[in-house]
Amino acid sequence: MDAIAQGHDVDLIDASSQKHAELGQYDLIGFASGIYGGSFHPDVLDFVKRNLTEGKRVFFLYTSAGLGNAKSIAKAVEGKSAVVAGEFGCKGFNTFGPFKLIGGTGKGHPDETDLENARRFFDSICE
Ligand SMILES: Cc1cc2nc3c(=O)[nH]c(=O)nc-3n(C[C@H](O)[C@H](O)[C@H](O)COP(=O)(O)O)c2cc1C
Repeated sequence: MDAIAQGHDVDLIDASSQKHAELGQYDLIGFASGIYGGSFHPDVLDFVKRNLTEGKRVFFLYTSAGLGNAKSIAKAVEGKSAVVAGEFGCKGFNTFGPFKLIGGTGKGHPDETDLENARRFFDSICE
């Protein structure tokens, strides 16, 4: 999120520390998370439930060990008549369970190429 926010008029909200937000004023709303047990973080799903107003244009960003997808967040916005502009996922540094013993996987990710791809994705849905 930090990478794509540069050069755009973007407000960042940490869904873990801020449970309530007024989202009515925004034209486009992104939800970003690592993938845990196949799902976006519960705090992000909860934030959607509490705060997303009807009929908003939304997008999804995630990092994962490589098997991530946006199904959980797509399901969370389903009842809100949201229009999904797109999703972007890439590898993140993963030290889950036994992977810690081998120094983790996806070290160095998201890397500069991942961030550039994320910026391109964001530019494309802003056009
Ligand atoms: C408890 C836990 C569960 C995870 N489950 C998955 C998973 O189901 N699929 C996957 O591809 N990656 C999984 N990962 C890897 C994370 O999605 C990845 O490391 C991500 O970049 C973490 O983001 P963060 O650094 O913002 O926490 C898991 C990591 C942890 C710690």
